[in-house]
Amino acid sequence: MAISLPGVEPREPLMWKEEQMSIPILTSIPVLFDKPINVWLGIALVLVVILQIGSGIVLSKGKLPILPLHRLNALLLAAVVAVHAFYGIGYWFFDFKIG
Ligand code: HEM
Repeated sequence: MAISLPGVEPREPLMWKEEQMSIPILTSIPVLFDKPINVWLGIALVLVVILQIGSGIVLSKGKLPILPLHRLNALLLAAVVAVHAFYGIGYWFFDFKIG
Protein backbone atom coordinates (compact mmCIF):
# COMPACT_ATOMS: atom_id res chain seq x y z
CA MET A 1 0.00 0.00 0.00
CA ALA A 2 1.33 3.46 -0.95
CA ILE A 3 2.13 5.83 1.88
CA SER A 4 0.87 9.35 1.21
CA LEU A 5 2.31 12.37 2.98
CA PRO A 6 0.68 15.78 2.93
CA GLY A 7 2.25 18.01 0.24
CA VAL A 8 4.22 15.13 -1.38
CA GLU A 9 3.13 13.98 -4.85
CA PRO A 10 3.09 10.19 -5.17
CA ARG A 11 5.72 8.87 -7.60
CA GLU A 12 5.20 6.31 -10.30
CA PRO A 13 6.03 2.81 -9.11
CA LEU A 14 9.66 1.79 -9.76
CA MET A 15 9.33 -0.41 -12.82
CA TRP A 16 11.31 -0.91 -16.02
CA LYS A 17 9.61 0.73 -18.94
CA GLU A 18 10.01 -0.69 -22.46
CA GLU A 19 12.20 2.22 -23.62
CA GLN A 20 14.45 1.94 -20.55
CA MET A 21 15.31 -1.72 -21.17
CA SER A 22 17.98 -1.03 -23.78
CA ILE A 23 20.83 1.44 -24.14
CA PRO A 24 20.25 3.12 -27.53
CA ILE A 25 23.99 3.81 -27.95
CA LEU A 26 24.56 0.07 -28.24
CA THR A 27 21.40 -0.89 -30.11
CA SER A 28 21.57 1.67 -32.92
CA ILE A 29 23.88 0.67 -35.75
CA PRO A 30 26.19 3.54 -36.82
CA VAL A 31 25.91 4.84 -40.37
CA LEU A 32 29.12 5.78 -42.22
CA PHE A 33 29.08 7.46 -45.66
CA ASP A 34 25.38 6.73 -45.98
CA LYS A 35 25.65 2.99 -45.28
CA PRO A 36 25.33 0.91 -42.12
CA ILE A 37 28.77 0.28 -40.64
CA ASN A 38 28.41 -3.46 -41.22
CA VAL A 39 28.79 -2.93 -44.96
CA TRP A 40 32.21 -1.30 -44.44
CA LEU A 41 33.20 -3.83 -41.78
CA GLY A 42 32.32 -6.65 -44.20
CA ILE A 43 34.54 -5.13 -46.90
CA ALA A 44 37.32 -4.60 -44.32
CA LEU A 45 36.95 -8.24 -43.26
CA VAL A 46 37.57 -9.55 -46.77
CA LEU A 47 40.79 -7.50 -46.97
CA VAL A 48 41.97 -8.39 -43.46
CA VAL A 49 41.30 -12.11 -43.98
CA ILE A 50 43.24 -12.05 -47.29
CA LEU A 51 46.14 -10.28 -45.53
CA GLN A 52 46.04 -12.80 -42.69
CA ILE A 53 46.09 -15.85 -44.93
CA GLY A 54 48.67 -14.23 -47.24
CA SER A 55 51.00 -13.31 -44.40
CA GLY A 56 50.50 -16.79 -42.92
CA ILE A 57 51.55 -18.43 -46.18
CA VAL A 58 54.59 -16.12 -46.49
CA LEU A 59 55.44 -16.77 -42.84
CA SER A 60 55.27 -20.52 -43.24
CA LYS A 61 57.91 -20.36 -46.01
CA GLY A 62 60.26 -19.09 -43.31
CA LYS A 63 61.99 -16.45 -45.44
CA LEU A 64 60.41 -13.22 -44.19
CA PRO A 65 60.13 -12.43 -40.46
CA ILE A 66 56.58 -11.06 -40.53
CA LEU A 67 55.22 -12.78 -37.43
CA PRO A 68 54.54 -9.37 -35.75
CA LEU A 69 52.38 -8.37 -38.73
CA HIS A 70 50.58 -11.74 -38.70
CA ARG A 71 49.98 -11.42 -34.95
CA LEU A 72 48.78 -7.79 -35.09
CA ASN A 73 46.53 -8.54 -38.03
CA ALA A 74 45.04 -11.50 -36.15
CA LEU A 75 44.07 -9.07 -33.36
CA LEU A 76 42.58 -6.62 -35.85
CA LEU A 77 40.70 -9.49 -37.50
CA ALA A 78 39.23 -10.59 -34.17
CA ALA A 79 38.16 -7.01 -33.35
CA VAL A 80 36.50 -6.42 -36.74
CA VAL A 81 34.74 -9.81 -36.56
CA ALA A 82 33.43 -9.00 -33.08
CA VAL A 83 31.93 -5.61 -34.04
CA HIS A 84 30.59 -6.93 -37.36
CA ALA A 85 28.93 -9.88 -35.61
CA PHE A 86 27.61 -7.74 -32.75
CA TYR A 87 25.67 -5.40 -35.04
CA GLY A 88 24.73 -8.15 -37.52
CA ILE A 89 23.27 -10.46 -34.88
CA GLY A 90 21.71 -7.45 -33.13
CA TYR A 91 19.99 -6.39 -36.35
CA TRP A 92 18.56 -9.80 -37.24
CA PHE A 93 17.73 -11.13 -33.81
CA PHE A 94 17.50 -8.27 -31.31
CA ASP A 95 15.74 -5.44 -33.11
CA PHE A 96 18.75 -3.11 -33.40
CA LYS A 97 17.93 -0.05 -35.49
CA ILE A 98 20.05 1.46 -38.26
CA GLY A 99 21.16 5.01 -37.54
C1 HEM B 1 42.21 -16.44 -40.20
C2 HEM B 1 43.38 -17.03 -40.36
C3 HEM B 1 44.52 -17.00 -39.37
C4 HEM B 1 44.59 -16.54 -38.09
C5 HEM B 1 43.48 -15.90 -37.25
C6 HEM B 1 45.94 -16.77 -37.61
C7 HEM B 1 46.40 -16.43 -36.36
C8 HEM B 1 47.67 -16.71 -35.91
C9 HEM B 1 48.14 -16.41 -34.60
C10 HEM B 1 47.32 -15.77 -33.48
C11 HEM B 1 49.42 -16.83 -34.52
C12 HEM B 1 50.32 -16.79 -33.30
C13 HEM B 1 51.17 -15.54 -33.31
C14 HEM B 1 52.08 -15.55 -32.10
O1 HEM B 1 52.95 -16.42 -32.01
O2 HEM B 1 51.92 -14.69 -31.24
C15 HEM B 1 49.78 -17.38 -35.80
C16 HEM B 1 51.01 -17.91 -36.11
C17 HEM B 1 51.34 -18.44 -37.32
N1 HEM B 1 50.50 -18.57 -38.40
FE1 HEM B 1 48.61 -17.93 -38.52
N2 HEM B 1 46.65 -17.35 -38.62
C18 HEM B 1 45.82 -17.51 -39.71
C19 HEM B 1 46.13 -18.07 -40.92
C20 HEM B 1 47.36 -18.62 -41.22
C21 HEM B 1 47.68 -19.29 -42.47
C22 HEM B 1 46.68 -19.48 -43.60
C23 HEM B 1 48.97 -19.69 -42.37
C24 HEM B 1 49.82 -20.44 -43.35
C25 HEM B 1 49.41 -20.99 -44.44
C26 HEM B 1 49.47 -19.29 -41.09
C27 HEM B 1 50.74 -19.52 -40.65
C28 HEM B 1 51.21 -19.18 -39.42
C29 HEM B 1 52.57 -19.44 -38.97
C30 HEM B 1 53.68 -20.11 -39.78
C31 HEM B 1 52.64 -18.97 -37.66
C32 HEM B 1 53.86 -18.99 -36.75
C33 HEM B 1 53.83 -20.23 -35.93
C34 HEM B 1 55.01 -20.20 -34.97
O3 HEM B 1 56.13 -20.32 -35.44
O4 HEM B 1 54.76 -20.06 -33.76
N3 HEM B 1 48.48 -18.63 -40.41
N4 HEM B 1 48.68 -17.30 -36.63
